[in-house]
Amino acid sequence: MKTSFGPHKIMFPCPTSLVVTGTMEDANIVTIAWVSLLTSKPPTLGVSVGTRGFSGEAIKSNGDFTVNIVPVSIMKEADFCGLRSGKDIDKFKESGLTKMPSAVVKSPIIKECPLNIECRLADWRLIGRTNHFVGEIVETHVDTDKLINKDDISSIDIEAFDPLIYIGGVREYRRIGEKVGDPYKIGNTLKGDS
Ligand SMILES: Cc1cc2nc3c(=O)[nH]c(=O)nc-3n(C[C@H](O)[C@H](O)[C@H](O)COP(=O)(O)O)c2cc1C
Repeated sequence: MKTSFGPHKIMFPCPTSLVVTGTMEDANIVTIAWVSLLTSKPPTLGVSVGTRGFSGEAIKSNGDFTVNIVPVSIMKEADFCGLRSGKDIDKFKESGLTKMPSAVVKSPIIKECPLNIECRLADWRLIGRTNHFVGEIVETHVDTDKLINKDDISSIDIEAFDPLIYIGGVREYRRIGEKVGDPYKIGNTLKGDS
């Protein structure tokens, strides 16, 4: 049996990300769980940012932003950035998180986040009361000590990275559990040709 609830905004798990927009002199951080890759060529991602806060208009006027994937070690700082507005405070100063210059875009990246994605604002659309921003990914940085093979971005050591997972609905932060299979392979075992 299933219970039906009608249209509802429940989706999990989500990565916890910190979206930064602005410049090295004046930047804001916002906590965003609604982030997803959209296309591979060109590589783009989408972030959903509400209209009530500071960041929506700031991203539009700045024209770029960075997406910084949060490890468990900065859970409190990341949560803080989702509880305060850049309208009221300097979240870099108050959280203690460290700005670093990006390679391509104006918006800084966050040193304490092991994965930093630089995006140029490619498009946006207002859906209801939420801005849906499309960012073209123009550069990607990974902490070398979070890579098993330092020349291969696909070799991220997920245990060492320890990403902070947001579970919508129940509203919990969790960490990743153990590996259970190999995607794009394990399904073949159903056809008997593994
Ligand atoms: C775990 C977490 C996830 C969040 N995800 C989103 C999100 O995906 N989109 C959004 O608009 N706000 C999200 N928020 C809320 C914003 O971070 C919050 O409104 C913030 O204070 C806005 O800051 P700003 O005014 O500086 O832009 C989230 C907050 C938390 C704590």
